Amino acid sequence: MRIITISNQKGGCGKTTTSINLAAALATNQRKVLLIDLDPQAHATSGLNIKADLSIYNVLSKITNKKCKLEEIIQNLGENFDLAPSSIILSTLEQELSGEIGRESRLCDTLKIFKNNYDYILIDCPPNLGILTINAIRAANEIIIPVEASRFSLEGVSQLTSIINLIAERLNHSVEFRILVTNFDSRLRHSFTMLERIKTDYKNRMFSNIIHVNVKLKEAQNEGLNILAYDKYCRGAKDYFSLSREIITQENTPTLNQTVEKTTVNKAFDKRMKEILKKELPKLNEVVLTVKAPDAKEVYLAGEFNNWKLDEDSRMEQTNGCWTKRLDLNNGKYRYRFVIDGNWTEDPANPLTQLNTYGTLDSLLEVNK
Ligand SMILES: Nc1ncnc2c1ncn2[C@@H]1O[C@H](COP(=O)(O)OP(=O)(O)OP(=O)(O)O)[C@@H](O)[C@H]1O
Ligand SMILES: [Mg+2]
Repeated sequence: MRIITISNQKGGCGKTTTSINLAAALATNQRKVLLIDLDPQAHATSGLNIKADLSIYNVLSKITNKKCKLEEIIQNLGENFDLAPSSIILSTLEQELSGEIGRESRLCDTLKIFKNNYDYILIDCPPNLGILTINAIRAANEIIIPVEASRFSLEGVSQLTSIINLIAERLNHSVEFRILVTNFDSRLRHSFTMLERIKTDYKNRMFSNIIHVNVKLKEAQNEGLNILAYDKYCRGAKDYFSLSREIITQENTPTLNQTVEKTTVNKAFDKRMKEILKKELPKLNEVVLTVKAPDAKEVYLAGEFNNWKLDEDSRMEQTNGCWTKRLDLNNGKYRYRFVIDGNWTEDPANPLTQLNTYGTLDSLLEVNK
């Protein structure tokens, strides 16, 4: 079984489009495929027109009262093609896992005991380097990094590859990555310039196939269909079908890590790794706090980390009634509360609380890396 994670912390570079359509193309080639939507935005789930009560959150969380096995949440989408859906509540997992030992292996452990006969498991990641992405990298043998040719999108790839190297080193888990050029627009000279740049930096780690800009890919996603079901003769369908064939031809060949010699680029990575990781590692302490308040007009997150201030910095962002705040925190214990339309309240999803001097409860967050 090959487990392939599709990841790039840059938003909108084609991770979900690749996850959905590569999964569909592999399934068309008679490979049994499970797509795991590990992004709380749940774009792969909605892009395949699935609405599910249970999601990958119920599999990975230990505190949910609807705990499930992976096989219990799987939805069949057609011959050889299954989906493990996501939901917005998955964003609370970052908080739940903070401070837990083995938190980066939760998905990997789940897949180890997963009794099902898939040829491929594909994992669609969120656009960040948080604990969900780390879990996806830890669980995978291979990573596809989609890089847009139409934008200056190489920035950040070296951070991601450094994280991959770090996981290999610290968790003794080697995983190889390849760059997939996406959104290639042959009408733009810039696309060719970008392609040349990517080739210079990642010559041995690129797929031969590239994905061209094709509006049908967007239309298909909006219609809740994979591209082969939407229009199997369009350019996008052809591109993802060719990519699936390229991946299939690698089934019996040695892995890149076994064959590719260390290039100058990789040596440069190693050299820069410590320096980059110094910058990037604190981000691994990124904590995401979430509260559901569909009727609220404004919600703040106040706590010891921001001196209990209610200002623009502590204002939370709302999506579908769920309010979220990302924090970069050093190790330690922090008290906090939400302020929902002026009402101070503890975090209903966090069982850890502590009595404060006002006789009410503060929620308690422990960051421990
Ligand atoms: N090759 C393409 N041609 C045209 N549109 C595309 C192509 N690839 C992706 N898109 C569109 O670009 C948008 C972003 O793509 P997608 O959702 O796959 O990116 P993503 O990396 O998963 O984003 P996020 O980081 O938010 O998860 C979508 O509307 C998608 O339909
Ligand atoms: Mg996505």
